[in-house]
Amino acid sequence: MKKLGRNDHCWCGSGRKYKSCHMAFDEKIERYALQRHIVPGHDIIKSPEQIEGIRQSSKLNIAILDEIERRIHIGMSTEEIDWIVSDMTKQMGGVSATLGYEGYPKSVCTSINEVVCHGIPDPARLLQDGDIINVDVSTIYNGYFSDSSRMFMLGDVPPETRKLVQVARECIDVGLEQVKPWNFLGDMAQAINDYAQANGYSIVREIGGHGVGLEFHEEPFVSYVTSRGTEMLMVPGMVFTIEPMVNMGKADIYIDDEDGWTVYTEDGKPSAQWEVTVAVTDDGYEILTY
Ligand code: MF3
Ligand code: CO
Repeated sequence: MKKLGRNDHCWCGSGRKYKSCHMAFDEKIERYALQRHIVPGHDIIKSPEQIEGIRQSSKLNIAILDEIERRIHIGMSTEEIDWIVSDMTKQMGGVSATLGYEGYPKSVCTSINEVVCHGIPDPARLLQDGDIINVDVSTIYNGYFSDSSRMFMLGDVPPETRKLVQVARECIDVGLEQVKPWNFLGDMAQAINDYAQANGYSIVREIGGHGVGLEFHEEPFVSYVTSRGTEMLMVPGMVFTIEPMVNMGKADIYIDDEDGWTVYTEDGKPSAQWEVTVAVTDDGYEILTY
């Protein structure tokens, strides 16, 4: 890319001169790059207008999860959850980001107990007393993508499983504390991994979060098992998901070779995951999907 002159219009679209807009910002990023850090390109830094688009998309996303929260019950099939997500998404003028995504057949992922993620809604799978389920909703509205998920507990869930769900929820907060400009994604990862491990749990390595907003899965890949001071530098305007998968037992997973999607824990122990879409702001973060 051609280097911008001081008096050129800034690349961010503000209409201001580069020197009074993002020039010092770019110079600061360049200093990190020279120290061999991974730094974000301009293409993954969102403008205020784009963030507003993602915020609007997120409103649909969370309204859908709120509705699931009201209607989920023992005896309901995961297929019924799919109908609710599909109907509500259309009703509000949105599109499901998962339906048809790389051949994925449904409008939502429903992952129960030892299913880590990407569980496919199924008319034959009825929610049972004691189940824990992750409902993962990904929404497109007006061209903007949002992605979030919550856990639900059905009936009499054993205390040790409740604790897993709770700790997975707290992992989000522990991660959020690290989201601010000039921190690294690895700062967030290590905080989350340390917290999970301190509770006797493990974090899935192979699957993580992602940049999101203009597409479903953008750069960077967001790991929750990397170390402080590593991975991409966080700067204002980055939007990504925090969605660590927390396993009660070992971190190892496998993918169902029949459906090609469902991810299970290797040891059959339960896994829990919450997900938010977050934007890095000038002084910290904004959770878009709250
Ligand atoms: N919603 C998942 C995520 O958080 C992705 C699901 S892709 C699908 O990234 F195809 F399995 F739906
Ligand atoms: Co996601």
